[in-house]
Amino acid sequence: MKSPEYVKTLFDDLSKYYDFFNRVISLGMQTSVKKNCLKLLKIEDNYKILDLCTGTGDLAFYMNKINKRANITGVDFSEKMLKIANDKNKKKRINNIQFFIADCRELPFEDNTFDIVTIGFGLRNIENYERVADEIQRVLKPQGQFLNLDFSCDRGFGNSIFDLLTRLTTTLSGKKSSYEYLINSKQTFLNTTELISFFRQKGYIFLKRKYYSFKVVAAELFRNNKK
Ligand SMILES: C[S@@+](CC[C@H](N)C(=O)[O-])C[C@H]1O[C@@H](n2cnc3c(N)ncnc32)[C@H](O)[C@@H]1O
Repeated sequence: MKSPEYVKTLFDDLSKYYDFFNRVISLGMQTSVKKNCLKLLKIEDNYKILDLCTGTGDLAFYMNKINKRANITGVDFSEKMLKIANDKNKKKRINNIQFFIADCRELPFEDNTFDIVTIGFGLRNIENYERVADEIQRVLKPQGQFLNLDFSCDRGFGNSIFDLLTRLTTTLSGKKSSYEYLINSKQTFLNTTELISFFRQKGYIFLKRKYYSFKVVAAELFRNNKK
């Protein structure tokens, strides 16, 4: 796994192209996948929600569409990714979404603050993801919901096509090192079954797993078992 400094610089450099790349390499499916996985959550009025590794803010904006009365905080350590999220928010003029610079391994929030924590395509990028699992548990209220969305890291037809599209897009755009990083992070991270048992060992209750886009992407829903 790459160092946090490497990952931060990579996303700072990629920020301008990030949304476009995502649309191309997912064949336009990323929006529907992100929206669909959020249906696994129960989002009630006045819920406090934290979106980790929020990047350009997609999950935060889609959760706001599901319940406009929820209060959503998105955090990321890439200033340039967050700037794009903030620029989008200025245009949308949504008051109850805030974006902050923060490192997921050391969250600047009190214990038991959030009803829901989400993380999209993030955990795989974090060197010390065990620490992030502890931080999520700390800031989540007892019985709070945690949703992880990411590449499934399972081998198969869908993933082969995805890898090919990623290679083409990043090579044509002169961002070949991003391709190498993405493929490597997919191949070396836990697959969904390993991820579920990791979170179970950490004391989360596993509720549901759902696959999307020919099993290229998977979402796992957990409940915080903390008393
Ligand atoms: C692949 S992007 C995902 C963005 C967004 N969640 C989405 O679904 O499109 C991963 C993001 O994680 C952020 N990130 C990686 N490690 C982080 C850390 N330790 N703390 C905060 N953000 C981190 C990167 O800056 C990047 O914006």
